[in-house]
Amino acid sequence: MTSLRFRFLFLTFSVLAVAVTAHNITDILKDLPEYSQFNSYLTKTKLADEINTRTTITVLVLNNGAMSDLVAKHPLSVIKNALSLHVLLDYYDPTKLHQISEGTTLTTTLYQTTGNAPGKLGFVNITDLKGGKVGFGSAAPGSKLDSSYSKSIKQIAYNISVLEIDQPIIAPGILTAPAPTASDVNITALLVKAGCKTFAGLLVTSGVMKTYESAIDKGLTVFAPSDEAFKAPSVPDLSKLTNAEVVALLQYHALNGYNPKGALKTTKGSISTLATNGAGKFDLSVTTAGDEVTLHTGVGPSRVADTVLDSTPLAIFTVDSVLLPTELFGKKAPSPAPAGEPVASPSPSPSPSPVSDAPSPLAASPPAPPAETPGGGDSPSDAPSGSSDEISPSNAVVHVNGAAFFAVVVCAVCSVLLS
Ligand SMILES: *[C@@H]1O[C@H](CO)[C@@H](O)[C@H](O)[C@H]1NC(C)=O
Ligand SMILES: *[C@@H]1O[C@H](CO)[C@@H](O)[C@H](O)[C@H]1NC(C)=O
Ligand SMILES: *[C@@H]1O[C@H](CO)[C@@H](O)[C@H](O)[C@H]1NC(C)=O
Ligand SMILES: *[C@@H]1O[C@H](CO)[C@@H](O)[C@H](O)[C@H]1NC(C)=O
Repeated sequence: MTSLRFRFLFLTFSVLAVAVTAHNITDILKDLPEYSQFNSYLTKTKLADEINTRTTITVLVLNNGAMSDLVAKHPLSVIKNALSLHVLLDYYDPTKLHQISEGTTLTTTLYQTTGNAPGKLGFVNITDLKGGKVGFGSAAPGSKLDSSYSKSIKQIAYNISVLEIDQPIIAPGILTAPAPTASDVNITALLVKAGCKTFAGLLVTSGVMKTYESAIDKGLTVFAPSDEAFKAPSVPDLSKLTNAEVVALLQYHALNGYNPKGALKTTKGSISTLATNGAGKFDLSVTTAGDEVTLHTGVGPSRVADTVLDSTPLAIFTVDSVLLPTELFGKKAPSPAPAGEPVASPSPSPSPSPVSDAPSPLAASPPAPPAETPGGGDSPSDAPSGSSDEISPSNAVVHVNGAAFFAVVVCAVCSVLLS
């Protein structure tokens, strides 16, 4: 009841949060033909979405002449990195530009948020130079302040300032050591490094990794649950799923198309996944609150946590919970007790708290063995599944062995004691 009401409030709030975004960079630049290249690349790289969903930002715009070298010589992924260095995560109107304290500052850019920028590469140095000139350059050591402020294009105080600069800001290596192209990316290695080993292993053993890889060229967005997520009590025993169900579950964790975070934030309605086909909708919906993006499956929400890779045409994010499609796991919410955190005992009673009576080693162990790790060649579904084709968390419990069943009972006892 409370949780339903909370969810309703949350949804209402999220819808409002999306609706108030006031600016549209594409629209601001559309009647200015001298910036048509810059504008069209903001759209192609989806940086426009990112810009439109942020406030307190400054966009440093290049005219078509200043863009020509960049676009003639580099692939889209490199252009995206270069342009994301031109989006400052702070508001600089012309007045503020000329009043920088101590005459010099470093400011964070969108490039810093992609996870691709080591060291100071994601920062821009703004310095007031002699004669009222304002210079911009990469904050990386040894960089020159080669770009200069030329004029103001538009301000919406204090949400977005659009300024023209005369030259691209080039961070060392940003053009010569381009983001890896899709075919170079080892998704398994990236996922393992990001703490998603279980997910990576399932992708490999089920063969779904091949599906992902063949989808990359046309754009792919992956939501990788962390290893922790697979240990959550609400995750059903995956070894009780059929092969086809495991495949559908894994395909459900990816979208066709490149959807960086800004694009996710502007998503409206439900979106289809790689699992979507004639046999089921397998779709997701997205809500946004500030910079936070949450996916909803119908069974439960999952927060989009970190960006593992944002490199056109591939975006990989970690998510806090395994995405459980209603087509496989029913509509029933797993209802994690809202106040289920390890107990703020109301009174400092000297007697041992009820929690400590529980056999903690067992209670702390994950209720079900998750799955294979990379390299283990076992099939994910070695157990014959029940005759029912609707697998729900509750009938998955029926199949568990004695030890896991005991753990479930202990957990149930715990939650009764805790409530
Ligand atoms: C600035 O952004 C906020 C929040 O997105 C919005 O409520 C406000 O209307 C915007 N201001 C202007 C002048 O557009
Ligand atoms: C932004 O403006 C462009 C050009 O006017 C328009 O095509 C686009 O739909 C707008 N985007 C949003 C999110 O309103
Ligand atoms: C910005 O660059 C200039 C010139 O290289 C340098 O003197 C200044 O210290 C830099 N500013 C900051 C805040 O690092
Ligand atoms: C990708 O990385 C995984 C894990 O690090 C490794 O086992 C595999 O051999 C790599 N694949 C390729 C094609 O390099």
